[in-house]
Amino acid sequence: MEMKITVVPGDGIGPEVTREAIAALESVAQLGGHKFQFLEMPIGGIAITKHGSPLPSATLDAALDSDAVLLGAVGGNEFNSLPPNKRPEAGLLQLRHALGGFANLRPSVAYAPLNHNSPLRAEVTDGADILFVRELLGGLYFGEPRSWDKENNVAFNTMRYSRNEVVRVARIAFELAQRRRRKLTSVDKANVLEVSQLWRATVTEVAAEYPDVTLEHQYVDACAMHLMNIPRNFDVVLTENLFGDILSDEAAVITGSLGMLPSATIGGRVNLYEPVHGSAPDIAGTGKANPLGAILTAAMLLRHSAGLEQDAQAVEAAVQRTLERGYRTADLARTNQTGQQIVTTREMGKLVFEILNEIIDRSQALHAV
Ligand code: IPM
Ligand code: MN
Repeated sequence: MEMKITVVPGDGIGPEVTREAIAALESVAQLGGHKFQFLEMPIGGIAITKHGSPLPSATLDAALDSDAVLLGAVGGNEFNSLPPNKRPEAGLLQLRHALGGFANLRPSVAYAPLNHNSPLRAEVTDGADILFVRELLGGLYFGEPRSWDKENNVAFNTMRYSRNEVVRVARIAFELAQRRRRKLTSVDKANVLEVSQLWRATVTEVAAEYPDVTLEHQYVDACAMHLMNIPRNFDVVLTENLFGDILSDEAAVITGSLGMLPSATIGGRVNLYEPVHGSAPDIAGTGKANPLGAILTAAMLLRHSAGLEQDAQAVEAAVQRTLERGYRTADLARTNQTGQQIVTTREMGKLVFEILNEIIDRSQALHAV
């Protein structure tokens, strides 16, 4: 298997966590005889500083010309006063749009015992395994018209969806549900918004193609509450762009840390892989950042772009085992817990790498028998 991967590490902790994701991919490639070629390009704040644009055309060209794109994080405090279309985040949104992926998969999995870091009780979060399918190219993020009329002191954005945009993302969500626990929760605000009424009617229609999947609808406010009350009740959650942005951060509470959430964006020309967390400029360069979200993102790349499901599972198992053995980066450590061993970002990556080697070696030995 050969792949050309464009790497856009971005800002803050982006480069340091992405480095560990690459290390995980390299070890899978080495053990399995695959060839992954990595090309690093600038995006976000660093690209603004160096090239005057959050998404330089050379970065976009490289991304479009690759088999997958791996992103770290974008954003920095020095850009906070810029208008939305000039900020580092604009580079990410332009990249998402150009790559065309509309289904953003965000798994929120309780990797015990890390979920015991959550302010939610262990018995609430143990065993939780939710897959958010966030529509990524529509809704308020991209809807036109949009503007801030400074003279009249009004601003507006447009929440807009077409039936086809809902159909295509719903199909992906139902297909994923078929391979899981066959339950799909579609989240909207159909008691208030016409867009949500179209959303609900369309998802209900698509459900007829998947009789083996149970569909339920929830309003987004109620869903936000149920997620904290009974997270184990959820399997696949399908929702529009902004609701998905908000609910996936909320669902990070279930795992114990936002730094645990990976994501994959599929359905377009080139798949895009990025951890859900931001650039965390306050801890950048200190070795405190948890690389597990980025490493789990690498696992999603193996699953959805390389077709290496077993290796994806091996990476996930390695992450699980690293946490079980008590290793924590400083941002994951808790003062009231025993048996923790504090390690740096780099050390954490190496530990996952070592455990991954053990797991893959063992499974190769089993296959050879
Ligand atoms: C995310 C982020 C982005 C989003 C920002 C950085 C544009 O919050 O991936 O969840 O809002 O989609
Ligand atoms: Mn977000």
